[in-house]
Amino acid sequence: MILVKLGGSVITDKSKPMTPRMDVIARLTQEIADSGQQCLIIHGAGSFGHIKAKQYCLKDGTSHPEYKQGIDEVQMDMRKLNTMVVDAFHAAGMPVASIPAGAISVFEDGELVELPANIFKHYFDIGITPISFGDVVVDRTRGVCICSGDDIMTYLAKELDIKKCIFVTSEDGIFSHYPPDEGESPIPEIQHGQDISFTSMNTDVTGGMERKLELIFNITSTGCDVTVLNGLVPGRLRQALDGEEVIGTRVRGGI
Ligand code: IPE
Repeated sequence: MILVKLGGSVITDKSKPMTPRMDVIARLTQEIADSGQQCLIIHGAGSFGHIKAKQYCLKDGTSHPEYKQGIDEVQMDMRKLNTMVVDAFHAAGMPVASIPAGAISVFEDGELVELPANIFKHYFDIGITPISFGDVVVDRTRGVCICSGDDIMTYLAKELDIKKCIFVTSEDGIFSHYPPDEGESPIPEIQHGQDISFTSMNTDVTGGMERKLELIFNITSTGCDVTVLNGLVPGRLRQALDGEEVIGTRVRGGI
Protein backbone atom coordinates (compact mmCIF):
# COMPACT_ATOMS: atom_id res chain seq x y z
CA MET A 1 0.00 0.00 0.00
CA ILE A 2 1.45 3.37 -1.03
CA LEU A 3 0.19 6.61 0.50
CA VAL A 4 0.21 9.45 -2.03
CA LYS A 5 -0.48 13.10 -1.28
CA LEU A 6 -1.37 15.28 -4.22
CA GLY A 7 -0.44 18.71 -2.87
CA GLY A 8 -2.74 21.66 -3.32
CA SER A 9 0.03 23.62 -5.05
CA VAL A 10 0.14 20.99 -7.80
CA ILE A 11 -3.55 20.32 -8.41
CA THR A 12 -4.57 23.98 -8.16
CA ASP A 13 -3.13 27.36 -9.01
CA LYS A 14 -2.57 28.67 -5.49
CA SER A 15 -2.45 32.29 -6.60
CA LYS A 16 -5.99 32.34 -8.04
CA PRO A 17 -9.06 31.45 -5.95
CA MET A 18 -10.79 28.20 -6.92
CA THR A 19 -8.55 27.50 -9.89
CA PRO A 20 -7.93 23.79 -10.54
CA ARG A 21 -5.13 22.57 -12.81
CA MET A 22 -7.32 20.15 -14.71
CA ASP A 23 -4.55 18.98 -17.04
CA VAL A 24 -2.24 18.19 -14.11
CA ILE A 25 -5.04 16.40 -12.20
CA ALA A 26 -5.81 14.30 -15.29
CA ARG A 27 -2.16 13.41 -15.85
CA LEU A 28 -1.36 12.54 -12.23
CA THR A 29 -4.44 10.36 -11.84
CA GLN A 30 -3.52 8.61 -15.10
CA GLU A 31 0.05 8.03 -13.84
CA ILE A 32 -1.38 6.42 -10.70
CA ALA A 33 -3.81 4.28 -12.71
CA ASP A 34 -1.10 3.22 -15.21
CA SER A 35 1.30 2.18 -12.43
CA GLY A 36 -1.13 -0.52 -11.33
CA GLN A 37 -0.03 0.11 -7.73
CA GLN A 38 -2.61 -0.03 -4.98
CA CYS A 39 -2.59 3.40 -3.44
CA LEU A 40 -4.37 5.41 -0.86
CA ILE A 41 -4.83 8.99 -2.05
CA ILE A 42 -4.93 12.20 -0.04
CA HIS A 43 -5.17 15.61 -1.66
CA GLY A 44 -4.63 19.12 -0.44
CA ALA A 45 -6.64 22.28 -0.83
CA GLY A 46 -4.57 24.87 -2.65
CA SER A 47 -6.74 27.80 -3.67
CA PHE A 48 -9.94 25.88 -2.81
CA GLY A 49 -9.27 25.92 0.92
CA HIS A 50 -6.52 28.09 2.27
CA ILE A 51 -7.85 31.48 1.21
CA LYS A 52 -11.27 31.20 2.87
CA ALA A 53 -9.98 29.12 5.81
CA LYS A 54 -7.72 32.08 6.61
CA GLN A 55 -10.41 34.67 5.92
CA TYR A 56 -12.78 33.00 8.43
CA CYS A 57 -9.95 32.05 10.88
CA LEU A 58 -11.17 28.45 10.89
CA LYS A 59 -7.86 27.05 12.13
CA ASP A 60 -8.61 28.67 15.47
CA GLY A 61 -12.23 27.58 15.74
CA THR A 62 -15.42 29.57 15.90
CA SER A 63 -14.20 33.04 16.88
CA HIS A 64 -15.01 34.71 13.56
CA PRO A 65 -18.49 36.31 13.57
CA GLU A 66 -19.32 34.55 10.31
CA TYR A 67 -17.70 31.22 11.12
CA LYS A 68 -20.84 29.23 10.18
CA GLN A 69 -20.75 30.64 6.68
CA GLY A 70 -17.01 29.90 6.56
CA ILE A 71 -17.39 26.24 7.55
CA ASP A 72 -20.14 25.78 4.99
CA GLU A 73 -18.21 27.46 2.18
CA VAL A 74 -14.85 25.79 2.76
CA GLN A 75 -16.40 22.33 3.12
CA MET A 76 -18.38 22.90 -0.07
CA ASP A 77 -15.37 24.19 -1.99
CA MET A 78 -13.25 21.23 -0.88
CA ARG A 79 -15.93 18.81 -2.02
CA LYS A 80 -15.99 20.54 -5.41
CA LEU A 81 -12.24 20.05 -5.76
CA ASN A 82 -12.54 16.47 -4.56
CA THR A 83 -15.22 15.77 -7.18
CA MET A 84 -12.82 16.97 -9.87
CA VAL A 85 -10.11 14.62 -8.59
CA VAL A 86 -12.59 11.73 -8.30
CA ASP A 87 -13.87 12.40 -11.85
CA ALA A 88 -10.28 12.28 -13.12
CA PHE A 89 -9.74 8.89 -11.46
CA HIS A 90 -12.95 7.63 -13.08
CA ALA A 91 -11.73 8.87 -16.46
CA ALA A 92 -8.48 6.96 -15.83
CA GLY A 93 -10.53 3.84 -15.14
CA MET A 94 -10.01 3.64 -11.38
CA PRO A 95 -12.86 3.08 -8.93
CA VAL A 96 -12.42 5.26 -5.85
CA ALA A 97 -14.26 5.91 -2.59
CA SER A 98 -14.28 9.48 -1.34
CA ILE A 99 -13.91 9.80 2.44
CA PRO A 100 -14.12 13.43 3.63
CA ALA A 101 -12.08 14.00 6.78
CA GLY A 102 -14.73 16.48 7.98
CA ALA A 103 -17.24 13.64 8.20
CA ILE A 104 -15.17 11.13 10.16
CA SER A 105 -12.30 12.73 12.06
CA VAL A 106 -12.07 14.33 15.47
CA PHE A 107 -9.49 16.85 16.61
CA GLU A 108 -8.53 18.09 20.04
CA ASP A 109 -6.99 21.53 20.16
CA GLY A 110 -5.66 21.29 16.62
CA GLU A 111 -4.44 17.70 16.99
CA LEU A 112 -5.92 14.80 15.03
CA VAL A 113 -7.03 12.25 17.63
CA GLU A 114 -9.60 10.08 15.86
CA LEU A 115 -9.73 8.87 12.27
CA PRO A 116 -11.16 5.42 11.56
CA ALA A 117 -8.31 3.99 9.51
CA ASN A 118 -10.25 0.73 9.22
CA ILE A 119 -12.61 2.39 6.71
CA PHE A 120 -9.66 3.18 4.43
CA LYS A 121 -8.30 -0.34 4.89
CA HIS A 122 -11.66 -1.90 4.12
CA TYR A 123 -12.07 -0.10 0.79
CA PHE A 124 -8.48 -0.88 -0.04
CA ASP A 125 -9.01 -4.58 0.71
CA ILE A 126 -11.97 -4.81 -1.66
CA GLY A 127 -9.95 -3.15 -4.44
CA ILE A 128 -11.32 0.37 -4.27
CA THR A 129 -8.92 3.26 -3.87
CA PRO A 130 -9.82 5.37 -0.83
CA ILE A 131 -9.39 9.10 -1.31
CA SER A 132 -9.49 11.76 1.38
CA PHE A 133 -8.57 15.43 1.55
CA GLY A 134 -7.81 18.39 3.81
CA ASP A 135 -11.05 19.71 5.29
CA VAL A 136 -12.81 21.68 8.02
CA VAL A 137 -13.23 19.23 10.89
CA VAL A 138 -14.75 19.08 14.37
CA ASP A 139 -12.43 20.00 17.21
CA ARG A 140 -13.56 19.20 20.75
CA THR A 141 -11.66 22.18 22.15
CA ARG A 142 -11.96 24.82 19.45
CA GLY A 143 -15.28 23.92 17.87
CA VAL A 144 -13.73 23.35 14.47
CA CYS A 145 -10.25 23.47 12.99
CA ILE A 146 -8.48 22.75 9.73
CA CYS A 147 -7.28 19.23 9.02
CA SER A 148 -4.51 19.25 6.43
CA GLY A 149 -3.82 16.45 4.02
CA ASP A 150 -0.50 16.11 5.83
CA ASP A 151 -2.31 15.41 9.13
CA ILE A 152 -4.19 12.58 7.41
CA MET A 153 -0.97 11.25 5.83
CA THR A 154 0.84 11.15 9.18
CA TYR A 155 -2.06 9.51 11.00
CA LEU A 156 -2.72 6.85 8.37
CA ALA A 157 0.97 6.07 7.82
CA LYS A 158 1.16 5.08 11.49
CA GLU A 159 -2.21 3.38 11.86
CA LEU A 160 -1.90 1.32 8.69
CA ASP A 161 1.83 0.63 9.05
CA ILE A 162 2.58 2.10 5.61
CA LYS A 163 6.07 1.52 4.19
CA LYS A 164 6.07 4.10 1.39
CA CYS A 165 4.69 7.65 1.18
CA ILE A 166 4.96 10.03 -1.76
CA PHE A 167 4.42 13.78 -1.46
CA VAL A 168 3.62 15.22 -4.87
CA THR A 169 4.52 18.90 -4.70
CA SER A 170 5.25 21.75 -7.10
CA GLU A 171 9.00 21.66 -6.36
CA ASP A 172 11.70 19.17 -7.29
CA GLY A 173 12.19 18.10 -3.68
CA ILE A 174 13.70 19.53 -0.51
CA PHE A 175 16.53 22.06 -0.91
CA SER A 176 18.85 23.29 1.81
CA HIS A 177 18.61 26.90 0.72
CA TYR A 178 15.76 28.91 -0.69
CA PRO A 179 15.14 29.98 -3.33
CA PRO A 180 17.24 27.27 -5.00
CA ASP A 181 19.57 28.28 -7.83
CA GLU A 182 18.38 27.68 -11.33
CA GLY A 183 18.98 24.07 -12.33
CA GLU A 184 20.02 23.12 -8.80
CA SER A 185 19.22 19.59 -7.72
CA PRO A 186 17.34 18.91 -4.49
CA ILE A 187 18.96 17.03 -1.59
CA PRO A 188 18.73 13.47 -2.99
CA GLU A 189 18.59 11.64 0.31
CA ILE A 190 18.02 12.50 3.95
CA GLN A 191 18.28 10.01 6.81
CA HIS A 192 15.56 9.94 9.44
CA GLY A 193 16.32 12.62 12.03
CA GLN A 194 19.23 14.12 10.08
CA ASP A 195 19.92 17.75 10.93
CA ILE A 196 19.45 19.92 7.85
CA SER A 197 20.12 23.63 8.23
CA PHE A 198 17.90 25.56 5.88
CA THR A 199 18.96 28.98 4.74
CA SER A 200 16.87 31.69 3.19
CA MET A 201 16.41 35.44 3.37
CA ASN A 202 12.83 34.69 4.28
CA THR A 203 12.35 33.12 7.74
CA ASP A 204 8.83 32.02 6.76
CA VAL A 205 10.35 29.75 4.16
CA THR A 206 12.95 28.24 6.48
CA GLY A 207 10.33 27.79 9.24
CA GLY A 208 8.00 26.21 6.69
CA MET A 209 10.66 23.77 5.51
CA GLU A 210 11.71 22.89 9.06
CA ARG A 211 8.07 22.14 9.89
CA LYS A 212 7.65 20.11 6.72
CA LEU A 213 10.73 18.02 7.50
CA GLU A 214 9.58 17.58 11.10
CA LEU A 215 6.30 16.25 9.77
CA ILE A 216 8.12 13.92 7.39
CA PHE A 217 10.33 12.66 10.25
CA ASN A 218 7.15 11.94 12.17
CA ILE A 219 6.22 9.59 9.33
CA THR A 220 9.71 8.12 8.83
CA SER A 221 9.95 7.39 12.59
CA THR A 222 7.80 4.31 11.98
CA GLY A 223 10.17 2.98 9.32
CA CYS A 224 8.21 4.37 6.37
CA ASP A 225 10.18 5.79 3.41
CA VAL A 226 9.05 9.20 2.14
CA THR A 227 9.69 10.67 -1.31
CA VAL A 228 9.08 14.33 -2.14
CA LEU A 229 8.88 15.03 -5.86
CA ASN A 230 7.64 17.49 -8.46
CA GLY A 231 4.26 16.56 -9.88
CA LEU A 232 4.35 19.32 -12.46
CA VAL A 233 6.97 17.31 -14.35
CA PRO A 234 5.31 14.47 -16.30
CA GLY A 235 6.38 10.93 -15.37
CA ARG A 236 8.03 11.56 -12.01
CA LEU A 237 5.14 10.26 -9.92
CA ARG A 238 4.94 7.19 -12.14
CA GLN A 239 8.69 6.56 -11.73
CA ALA A 240 8.40 6.77 -7.95
CA LEU A 241 5.38 4.47 -7.92
CA ASP A 242 7.32 1.98 -10.02
CA GLY A 243 10.15 2.10 -7.47
CA GLU A 244 12.57 3.70 -9.94
CA GLU A 245 15.14 6.37 -9.12
CA VAL A 246 13.50 9.75 -9.56
CA ILE A 247 14.55 13.38 -9.21
CA GLY A 248 13.34 14.32 -5.76
CA THR A 249 14.23 13.92 -2.10
CA ARG A 250 14.03 10.54 -0.46
CA VAL A 251 13.79 10.47 3.31
CA ARG A 252 14.76 7.05 4.61
CA GLY A 253 12.63 5.51 7.30
CA GLY A 254 14.41 4.69 10.50
CA ILE A 255 13.34 2.97 13.66
C1 IPE B 1 -5.69 22.22 3.80
O1 IPE B 1 -5.12 21.02 3.38
C2 IPE B 1 -7.19 22.05 3.98
C3 IPE B 1 -7.96 23.32 4.00
C4 IPE B 1 -7.44 24.50 3.97
C5 IPE B 1 -9.41 23.17 4.06
P1 IPE B 1 -3.54 20.98 2.98
O2 IPE B 1 -2.78 21.81 3.95
O3 IPE B 1 -3.16 19.55 2.89
O4 IPE B 1 -3.53 21.65 1.54
P2 IPE B 1 -2.26 22.02 0.63
O5 IPE B 1 -1.76 20.77 0.04
O6 IPE B 1 -1.24 22.68 1.53
O7 IPE B 1 -2.82 22.97 -0.38
